[in-house]
Amino acid sequence: MAVYQLLTSRFAAALAQVGAPDASPNIQVASKPEFGDYQANGIMGAAKALKTNPRALAEQVLACVDLAGIADKLEIAGPGFINITLSNEFLAQTLSSQQADARLGTGAAQTETVVIDYSSPNLAKEMHVGHLRSSIIGDSLTRIYSYLGHKVIRQNHVGDWGTQFGMLTAYMLENENQDNELALGDLESFYRAAKVRFDADPAFADLSREYVVKLQSGDAQVRELWQRFLNISMQHCEDVYQKLGLLLTRADVKGESSYNDDLPVVINDLRAQGLLVESQGAQVVFLDEFRNKDGDAAAFIVQKQGGGFLYSTSDLATARYRTGVLGASRILYVVDARQGLHFQQLFTVARKAGFVPADTHLEHVAFGTMMGDDGKPFKTRSGELIKLVDLLTEAESRAFDLVSSKNPTMDEATRKHIAHAVGIAAVKYSDLSKHRTSDYVFDWNSMLSFEGNTAPYLQYAYTRIASIFRQAGTVDANAKIDLIEPAEHALALTLVQFPDILQQAASDTCPHVLCSYLYTLATRFSRFYDACPVLKAEGEIRSSRLALCQAAAKTMQTGLDLLGIEVLQEM
Ligand code: ARG
Repeated sequence: MAVYQLLTSRFAAALAQVGAPDASPNIQVASKPEFGDYQANGIMGAAKALKTNPRALAEQVLACVDLAGIADKLEIAGPGFINITLSNEFLAQTLSSQQADARLGTGAAQTETVVIDYSSPNLAKEMHVGHLRSSIIGDSLTRIYSYLGHKVIRQNHVGDWGTQFGMLTAYMLENENQDNELALGDLESFYRAAKVRFDADPAFADLSREYVVKLQSGDAQVRELWQRFLNISMQHCEDVYQKLGLLLTRADVKGESSYNDDLPVVINDLRAQGLLVESQGAQVVFLDEFRNKDGDAAAFIVQKQGGGFLYSTSDLATARYRTGVLGASRILYVVDARQGLHFQQLFTVARKAGFVPADTHLEHVAFGTMMGDDGKPFKTRSGELIKLVDLLTEAESRAFDLVSSKNPTMDEATRKHIAHAVGIAAVKYSDLSKHRTSDYVFDWNSMLSFEGNTAPYLQYAYTRIASIFRQAGTVDANAKIDLIEPAEHALALTLVQFPDILQQAASDTCPHVLCSYLYTLATRFSRFYDACPVLKAEGEIRSSRLALCQAAAKTMQTGLDLLGIEVLQEM
C-alpha cells in the first residue's frame, strides 16, 4: 500500500478510537525536514468538532495510533500537528518491494475507461504554438492513466468540417492544373491565398459556399478534394507528433465530420425532451444555471437560423458517442481555458439531455496561454502565429549549439541525437512543469538551462546515475537496502512517494505534480551522491547504495517517460 494511504488509514483508526470517526487525518508530506517526513494536520479540525483541546487530543491520538514498524518518531508540534518520521527499516522494505514490482508499487490495476480528447487541431491550417499545450499535456495524461492501469482511449477531435473547407476545396479545384501537392506543402500560404481570393472575388465566394453545401450533401468530387486536403493536413500534424514523440496515431483521429449524420438526431432528441426553444430563428437550450448580469438565462445555441449546426452541436454528439459507444467513465477535454464557458454549458446540457450519465466524470482540463517575453500571446515579430514545426526545429538547433559548445569533440551524429532529445524535452518540460491553468512566458534561455527545474537538469542528473553503472561492474539488483545516512533516508523517502505522486497527478490532471516530484528526486539524489560514497564504498554498503542508485534511475526514467521525455546515457 502506498505510504499516504497507509498513514491515512492508521490515523483514521486512531481518530475513531478517540471519538472522532469522521475526522480526516489530513496527512501531508512534511513542509520542512525538521518536521519529519509526514505530518498529520487533521487533529485541530477534529478537536474543533469535538470542542476539545487540540494538543490534548493529539496526545490521545499518539497514545493509540498503531505505527509499529512504520514510524520511529512521532512528535506533537505547535497547536496540535503530529510530525511523523518513518523508520529506516520500513522505508528500505517499502522501497525494495516497490522496485520488485513491474509498476513501481502503483497497486492493483485500476479499471476506469478514460477518454482523453487532446491535440484536436483545426485541419484547415497548420498546427501553431497554440496547439502545443493540448498536445503535450494530453499526451502526458494518457501515459499516466495507462500506467496506473486504466483503459485509455485517445481522441483527436480534429476540426475537419465547416465553411472553411468549402473555400479550400474550391481553391484546390481552381488550381487543379498546378501542382497542388506542392502548394499544400505550406498550408498556411495555401489558406491565405484562398482567403485573399475569397475576399476579392464574389463569384469565388459564391462558389465556396456552394462547395460547403456539396460537401455536406456528399458530392463525390468535393468530398474527394476534401479528403485529399485532410490527408495532407494530417500528414503535417503527424510530422509534428513525431518530432514531439507523442503517442497519437491516425487511428486516434475522430474529427468533427464523423458526427455529421448524428447532428439532426441530437436536435430531435433535445426537442423530444422539451429542452429546445426557438429564439430569433435559432434553436437554443436556455440554461438557468448560467445567468448574465441582467439575470437572463444563457442560451446555448445548437442550430443556427437557417439550419446550420455548430461546434456545440457536434460536441453534444461527441459526448454521447464517448459514453454510449466508447463506454467512458471519465472524459477529459484538454482544451484552452478560453473555451471554459463552452464546456461548462456543454456538460450541463449533455447531462440534462441524458447523453451523459450522472456518474460519468466530465472534466475540462483547461490550460493557460503561452506568452512571448512581451507578455502577449506568443507570435512572430510580424505578429503571426508561430508554426509549431518551426518552433520545434528551432529548439533542436538551439540545443545543438548548446551540446556542441559543451562537447566540441563529440561526433556530429551523437550531438544531433542528444540535441533532439534535449531540445524537445526542454520545450515540453518547461510547459508541463508549470501549473497548467496559468499563462506562462515562453523563454528559450530558462528552458535550456542546466540549472533549476528544467529538462536538461533532469536529463543530466539521469546521465550521472547512468555513468555510475558504467563504472560499477556487475550490480546485484536485489541487494539489501540499508539506510544509514540522513541523505539516504531522504532519497528513499522520495522514492517511495512515487505511487502517491502519480495518483495525485492523475486525479488532479496536473502533470506539473510529477515534474516537481522529479526535480525533488534529482536534487535529493545529488545530495545523497555528494554525501555518500558509492563506488568507493565496500561490501554491503556499496551494494545497498548501488541499489539506491538503481531505484533512483528507474524511478527517474519512468517518471520522465510519463511526461513523454527521453532519457540519455550521456550528454
Ligand atoms: N478544434 C478545436 C480548436 O482548435 C478544439 C477541439 C477540442 N475538443 C472538443 N471536443 N471540443 O479549438
